[in-house]
Amino acid sequence: TTVMADVERPELFEFHGVSMTHYFTDNWENVQNFKALPDDILIATYPKAGTTWMSYILDLLYFKQKDKEREKSLPLYERVPFLELVIPNYCTGVEALDTLPTRPRLIKTHLPIQFVPKSFWEQNCRMVYVARNAKDNAVSYYHFDRMNMAQPEPKDWNSFLQRFMDGKMVFGSWFDHVTGWWKKKQTCSNILYMFYEDMVEDTGREMERLCSFLGLSTTAEERESIRGGVQFDAMKANPMANYSTDLVMNQKIFPFMRKGKVGDWKNQFTVAQNETFDENYENKMRNNTLKFRTHI
Ligand code: A3P
Repeated sequence: TTVMADVERPELFEFHGVSMTHYFTDNWENVQNFKALPDDILIATYPKAGTTWMSYILDLLYFKQKDKEREKSLPLYERVPFLELVIPNYCTGVEALDTLPTRPRLIKTHLPIQFVPKSFWEQNCRMVYVARNAKDNAVSYYHFDRMNMAQPEPKDWNSFLQRFMDGKMVFGSWFDHVTGWWKKKQTCSNILYMFYEDMVEDTGREMERLCSFLGLSTTAEERESIRGGVQFDAMKANPMANYSTDLVMNQKIFPFMRKGKVGDWKNQFTVAQNETFDENYENKMRNNTLKFRTHI
């Protein structure tokens, strides 16, 4: 039997204009003063957009050849520390990063663009952003909040969806998040903006994009072997990648690796919810060059 960590479902509160919980703001000074290194790679996402998948792909691209032990013994969340995370009785994300022995450091964050610590910009770090279409992202987030005891209670799906549209989610509005990073990317060549849907459609192609952005020379054979290991079913069965050793998620309610599909929202949205959502979406995203696919 697993003993759950000593966490309580937190309250959402406004923090510099963004809805947050204390698990991601308690270490704010240290997060903002974080000292990035020039070869650090920041993996940034809105929650549930494919963070874990991207983290694992990058971890294997950088370390699979070099370090065979890593793959057997180190859970992914220890390989790729979560910058702003503070969970009682565990080291903070910043502490984990400060003591990480391997280089480059792969760093996970869900921070919206305006909260990224300034040292990442000063050091010209490369950043990989993953965005996922709003409907699938909302459904995934809803199920995640049901099983993650460090997240606010999601309540019923209808009210959750309303709060998603209103930006009353941990890490704020999906709309602001994906748009904020998109705008920054237009003038910042250090950001690679990727889509979950593209990764599902052709993982190999997107891995090639990653390698060329990061200047990684991998052989087609290496990439093909990594591609196999990062497919949904392989990751779901892999205790190093599926969070089975994590203590804040109650995976009896739902496994972390839930479905991994594009278009699963169709099984969750009612026709009426979909109409309301589309109208709301159109209003918010009308003047945006950022386009998503809700099915492939
Ligand atoms: P679902 O809940 O729709 O299944 P994050 O890592 O940002 O929390 O995102 C989690 C989502 O990514 C979950 O979506 C999860 O199943 C999906 N995911 C994780 N690994 C994946 C993979 N290898 N292929 C496709 N989807 C994956």
